Amino acid sequence: MNAPNAAPELFTWEFASDPYPAYAWLRENSPVHRTKLPSGVEAWLVTRYADARQALADSRLSKNPEHHAEDAQGKSKTGIPGERSANLMTHLLNIDPPDHTRLRRLVSKAFTPRRVAEFAPRVQELADDLIDGFASQGRADLIHDFAFPLPIYAICDLLGVPPEDQDDFRDWAGMMIRHGGGPRGGVARSVKKIRGYLAELIHRKRNEPGDDLISGLIRASDHGEHLTENEAAAMCFVLLFAGFETTINLIGNGVYALLGNPEQRARLQASIEGGERELLDTGIEELLRYDGPVELATWRFATEPLTIGGQSIAAGDPVLVVLAAADRDPARFAEPDTLDLSRRDNQHLGYGHGIHYCLGAPLARLEGTTAIETLLRRLPDLSLSGDPADLRWRGGLIMRGLRTLPVEFTP
Ligand code: HEM
Repeated sequence: MNAPNAAPELFTWEFASDPYPAYAWLRENSPVHRTKLPSGVEAWLVTRYADARQALADSRLSKNPEHHAEDAQGKSKTGIPGERSANLMTHLLNIDPPDHTRLRRLVSKAFTPRRVAEFAPRVQELADDLIDGFASQGRADLIHDFAFPLPIYAICDLLGVPPEDQDDFRDWAGMMIRHGGGPRGGVARSVKKIRGYLAELIHRKRNEPGDDLISGLIRASDHGEHLTENEAAAMCFVLLFAGFETTINLIGNGVYALLGNPEQRARLQASIEGGERELLDTGIEELLRYDGPVELATWRFATEPLTIGGQSIAAGDPVLVVLAAADRDPARFAEPDTLDLSRRDNQHLGYGHGIHYCLGAPLARLEGTTAIETLLRRLPDLSLSGDPADLRWRGGLIMRGLRTLPVEFTP
């Protein structure tokens, strides 16, 4: 136990399994909190909703890691997979306007809500095929057998990665997740393989365009401007990795939250059986707020001295906005620690806010609602198998998600 006014220990195993009490303490006692991250980097954690929302939209906080004071000294430990020379890393989440504005406008012309809506039958088919793969066994690991493959096959299909190459992507993506996005070893090798593969695929789509998203990205133009070869590859890369672990966690954390709240789960199940949609739609937003896939928004760096919530921040300091803390702030949400699938006043920050607001939110919503609806409809007596205390959370800094989710059900 911590003494009442000592800051809780962060980034331990215990913290990873339930960070919310520690975040409540920070919101209350040290809302903009300086801490040493496991990598050794010192950073500010922003935990209150109002401060978080403001910081996410503050143009004095740059996404470009070159603004990190330590980076300027050539010793970055932010864990943003190094090799900026690889150019895959100069993607939307690591750049500022005006480049960000130009690239985001171009991608928005190809990655439209309409393209996502037209993709709905394919996501349904994927969900059903994956469930068919284990439905007769009476048990499954919902992460390995369902939440992991669904988004990777979905984004590969949407981008236009041919079916025969998709298992390679599955392996590369698995490698990136297992090693938590750090710059060394397997991740660097996976990034290199993905880079080579994407360059070749983009080249192929230039010569033989289809109606997939990569062809759309190549075609997209704004005032006569197109994406360069490198920009197109970096865009495909960010779509792949920003949409992958996040969606795994949305399904994993979401199902776990439902299994832990039987009364809410029963309501949702009844509404699904009745063919209603409304509770599923408000419910998916509540699952994002209650235990969302992205615990900390990605890195930001102060470009000049500034204050957040009354705290002075020096130029060059890293700032991490703790979405998971902001989304449980009692100053913004009534009964923030209660899962209420019908919550209406729910402007959560699970998809971020401001110019970097999640580009893939419509796809994430489609995948999340399809996955949860299909699971509850087809496996109505789905339950956790084993002791919840044995569940382990992946230890990365930015994301929050389970390593495994063993379940059982009547075959
Ligand atoms: C940005 C969350 C799914 C693509 C973001 C940000 C958050 C987020 C919090 C902002 C990060 C920041 O400001 O530091 C989520 C969640 C998802 C999800 C919770 C799933 C449940 C997806 C999917 C895709 C995607 C499926 C694409 C296929 C992106 C991209 C950005 C982004 C490209 C960068 C946008 C920019 O910088 O302009 N996402 N995301 N995301 N997301 Fe998502």
